Amino acid sequence: NLAGLDLRAEIDRLRTERNAVILAHYYQKPEIQDLADFVGDSLDLSRKAQATDADVIAFCGVRFMAETAKILSPQKTVVLPDMDAGCSLEDSCPPEQFAAFRAQHPDAIALTYINCSTAVKALSDVIVTSSSAEAILAKIPPEQKIIFGPDRNLGGYLARKTGRDLILWPGVCIVHEAFSETELLKLKAEHPGAPVVAHPECPAVILDHADYVGSTRGILEYAMAMPGDTLIVATEPHIIHQMEKALPTKRFIGAPGADGNCNCNICPYMALNTMEKLYLALRDLTPRIEIEEGLRLEAKKSLDAMMSMAG
Ligand code: 13P
Ligand code: SF4
Repeated sequence: NLAGLDLRAEIDRLRTERNAVILAHYYQKPEIQDLADFVGDSLDLSRKAQATDADVIAFCGVRFMAETAKILSPQKTVVLPDMDAGCSLEDSCPPEQFAAFRAQHPDAIALTYINCSTAVKALSDVIVTSSSAEAILAKIPPEQKIIFGPDRNLGGYLARKTGRDLILWPGVCIVHEAFSETELLKLKAEHPGAPVVAHPECPAVILDHADYVGSTRGILEYAMAMPGDTLIVATEPHIIHQMEKALPTKRFIGAPGADGNCNCNICPYMALNTMEKLYLALRDLTPRIEIEEGLRLEAKKSLDAMMSMAG
């Protein structure tokens, strides 16, 4: 029974006792973002996980992110507060089907979004994040055929932006798919001139209305330098916490789903992590990420390729 415990104080005590670092994604609850040692996008979190000298990484994000930390830092104990914190993109790409897809395109390399399982990383050549995809793609010779998965929205965006012909896996993020173009246009009409920022996991009908498209970090950087006093944000709305903290006089509005509000765009997987579960994870060092060594080494190759090509 955790009632009556000062969870923040207990987490701080355990963080020191365990020599732990707490890494959090921008889609985590505000109280978790606020206590984390580092908050970032997928690429920054991977780099932090690789560079830290802590003994324990408490990863407040989703499972593929914690697995990436373990792949890059196998000697560390990596805990994820809730092992059910998955990702719809990962679920949309079972490794056996991905292997069959690769086999259909024997002359293509697999450039794969980090939002996938360790097994799919092991089947891939180069991993990308939304903040590194364009730079990495620019380093691949134009004549090289490329399979891109699992996110067809990010893949479609990259193909349109760079003019490259990518062979797309048909996966989507349920959160970014839920934005409604009709409701977004209504919101834009209510706030004339307010810029729209969007994550590239959104479908093209949403991205077409965006003034800026980028990773969570890119979106935050845009907000910090934004013109005007109102911004419409088409990504998971917990990121707005960082914007409101840094710019308390400005107005940030989450883009709506079909029901006209932005609550349907909360990532249900990210939301599984709570202060209680983080406390228990640090106390008991479980749920712990474990990856079979042969699989880890295979998956590490495509992540290492990302790290060296991301610049
Ligand atoms: P970022 O790398 O932009 O933080 O994206 C992670 C993610 O899961 C978006 O849904
Ligand atoms: Fe996966 Fe979408 Fe949640 Fe990101 S927002 S973790 S892509 S389900």
